[in-house]
Amino acid sequence: MLALAPRLPAFRPEACLFSTPCVADIFAARTAGLPRMCATSPQPEQERLTRSSLLGFSSANDDVLPQSYFERLDYQEKGVPWDLRGSPQPPVRNAAQAGAFGPAGTVILDCGCGAGDNANWLASRGYNVLGFDLSPSAVATAEERAAAEEMAAAIEVAGGAVEFVQASAMELHAAPRVQQRADQLGGFEIALDSALLHCLDDAAQRTYLSGLRKLMRPGGRAYIGCFSDANPDPWSNPRRLSEAQLRDLFSNDGWRVLELKEAWYERPRERSTSSGGAWTMAWWCTAEATDMC
Ligand SMILES: C[S@@+](CC[C@H](N)C(=O)[O-])C[C@H]1O[C@@H](n2cnc3c(N)ncnc32)[C@H](O)[C@@H]1O
Repeated sequence: MLALAPRLPAFRPEACLFSTPCVADIFAARTAGLPRMCATSPQPEQERLTRSSLLGFSSANDDVLPQSYFERLDYQEKGVPWDLRGSPQPPVRNAAQAGAFGPAGTVILDCGCGAGDNANWLASRGYNVLGFDLSPSAVATAEERAAAEEMAAAIEVAGGAVEFVQASAMELHAAPRVQQRADQLGGFEIALDSALLHCLDDAAQRTYLSGLRKLMRPGGRAYIGCFSDANPDPWSNPRRLSEAQLRDLFSNDGWRVLELKEAWYERPRERSTSSGGAWTMAWWCTAEATDMC
C-alpha cells in the first residue's frame, strides 16, 4: 500500500489542465510529420500477455510518442510542451531543498535533462550535474541556458558545475562521458529522472533502468518523477503510470523502492486558462540501487 505523502489538494479541473497540453503534444507531433500517436509496436495477442497485463495494469496507457519525436525536437522554436524556460520542476526543487540529493558538491546524473532547467538550478545550488538527453536541441539549449550570464554567475558563486551530453537512455553503455564519470566516481550516488521514464514503452523502460543500475553505486538513489494514473481522461501522452507499475519496475534487477509519493508537475503557464498555472498529477519515486551487480 502506498505510504501516503500529504494528500494532493482536492482535484480542481481548472487547475489541472492536462488535456490542453496533451492536445498540444499531439499537434506538435503532427506538425513534425509524425503520426498522431505512436502506440507501442503492434504485438501478437500472445505477446500482450506481458508481466504488466498479468499484474492487471491497464494497457490503455501504453501509448508513447516515437523516439524520433524527441530526437527531432526543436527547443529554439518554443512551444515544447514541458519547457518551463528557466524554472526547475517543483518536485525536483522540493527534493533538493529537503536534502534528498545530499550536500552541495554531490554529483547528479540527470537522465532526459531536456532544456537543462533542473540541472542548471541544481548546479546553481552547488551540485555537480551531468545531464544527458536524446535530443541534440535539448542539449544545445541546456548548454546555452547554463552559459547565460545570470545562471553562469549563480553556478560559479555556488561552486557548482554542469555538463550536458547527447545520449540515449537505452544505450547508456555506449555513452562515453556518462560511463567515464561513473567509473571515476565508483558509480553515481544520485540519479534524477524528471519525466523521462513516462516517455518510454515497457521494454524501453526496463532496458533503461537496467543500464542505469549499472552506472550506480550500491546504495545510490534514483529520484523519478512521472505522470500518475490518477489523471483522468481525456488523455493522450505521455503514459500515466500506476503505483503498481512503478513498484514492479523497481522491485528487482538491482532496485528497490524506498518511497513513493504523490506530487504535482508543472506545465508551461501558457498551457493554462487559469491564473493558477497548469498542473499534472505525478508520482515522485525514490529507488535505491541494491547490492547485486
Ligand atoms: C518530458 S521531457 C522532461 C525534460 C526535463 N527532465 C524536465 O523535467 O523538464 C522528457 C525528456 O526526455 C528525453 N528523452 C526521451 N527519450 C529519451 C531517451 N531514450 N534517452 C534520453 N532522453 C530521452 C526527451 O528528449 C525530453 O527532453
